[in-house]
Amino acid sequence: PASTTEPRAGDLAVGGVPLAEIADRFGTPVYVLDESEVRERCRTYRHAFPDAEVLYAAKAFLCRAMVHWVGEEGLGLDVCSAGELELAVTTGFPAERILLHGNAKSPRDLELALRLGVGRIVIDSPSEIARLAAAVGPGRRQKVMVRVVPGVSAGGHDKIRTGTEDQKFGMSLRDGYAQHAIARILDQPRLELTGLHCHLGSQITTVKPYLAAVRRLVGLMARLHGQHGIVLPELDLGGGHGIAYRPGEPALDLTALARQVRAELTAGCAAAGLPVPRLIIEPGRAVVGPAGVAVYHVLSVKHTGEHTFVAVDGGMSDNPRPALYGVPYAPRLIGRHSAAAPAPVTVVGRHCEAGDVLAADVALPADVRPGDLLAVPVAGAYHLSMASGYNMVGRPPVAAVHAGHARLLVRRESLDDIRSRDVGL
Ligand code: LLP
Repeated sequence: PASTTEPRAGDLAVGGVPLAEIADRFGTPVYVLDESEVRERCRTYRHAFPDAEVLYAAKAFLCRAMVHWVGEEGLGLDVCSAGELELAVTTGFPAERILLHGNAKSPRDLELALRLGVGRIVIDSPSEIARLAAAVGPGRRQKVMVRVVPGVSAGGHDKIRTGTEDQKFGMSLRDGYAQHAIARILDQPRLELTGLHCHLGSQITTVKPYLAAVRRLVGLMARLHGQHGIVLPELDLGGGHGIAYRPGEPALDLTALARQVRAELTAGCAAAGLPVPRLIIEPGRAVVGPAGVAVYHVLSVKHTGEHTFVAVDGGMSDNPRPALYGVPYAPRLIGRHSAAAPAPVTVVGRHCEAGDVLAADVALPADVRPGDLLAVPVAGAYHLSMASGYNMVGRPPVAAVHAGHARLLVRRESLDDIRSRDVGL
């Protein structure tokens, strides 16, 4: 993260607070969010995309403070459940700046979204159309968008590619499938179609796939104009902007993305005789990922014939990403200075399966030992938002650092929390 500094040898500080101090105060594992960095990243988006609407994708990580920060920095929100929606609105976030997604929205999701008055709902399948129109009720109109499959393959891992035909999201452009659904939406007086939506996938590091998506979507806008005479005022390109998880890895260049998307959109619309729609983007990871650090204590060190296993007090329940996608992280020793040479180790978690590996074959000082602290940088996105209750270890707390102070945002899940949900016997 940009704002990490090293106040003294081996002691990493975030937002002016040494991580070792945060570990002492809140215990481990603990997730630390750098408020200034989140805000700075929001501002980077506002500057790169001054005429676009930037919606933070809440699924990357949400808590009340996040809602507050992104709102203050002028972003809207993309949510995909009643849970995310309710947290945002009860924090004071204006519902009209919220967009609801989901390939299988529950009746409760829709009921809450309509009751609170969300700005837009993205229709993901034909079966949603009549159900949504009925739920809107007589005399009212809900703004909707339509998620289409642009047929563009992009993303850091097969499991997070969503722009291709062979996955569950959106409606295909093939055989008029999306067009047919759109005609049905236009027939519903309670639904107001404001634009097309697509989301290519996640952890995309080049601009090209976005340009291909713009071309496909502008093509569809032109066909819809010809067929129904409609001009859609908005175009949502989703999120997926890739970040570097380890030093030297590529990240998506947001300035280049903004400039090239704008050029492609302007040229495509001019050629089709359409006005340029307002652009919407939905970044999640790139807003919060680099602003988070996970801190663990080492609990055991074990040497086998070929490996050194360094086991920490968290694991796949707070960070399922290595187990799910096999992605590499770069943990580092913090809290003390070590003069020992680096040695290859595998950092593992505390969970009851061999696949609970946080970082395979990484270099740590050879004298790493129980009681040491390890920091895992770039831990802000899709760690805690995908945390599970596995082995009943309890979800870690989240602390925010800002201007040399740390404060608790989300408390640790306690044994009481775990016990109190269980009301059977
Ligand atoms: N918009 C839509 C409709 C999405 O489905 C997503 C992410 C985003 C925006 C935000 O994408 P981002 O900018 O954060 O890449 N668990 C995976 C990532 C799954 C992303 C799901 N959708 C991971 O840990 O890499």
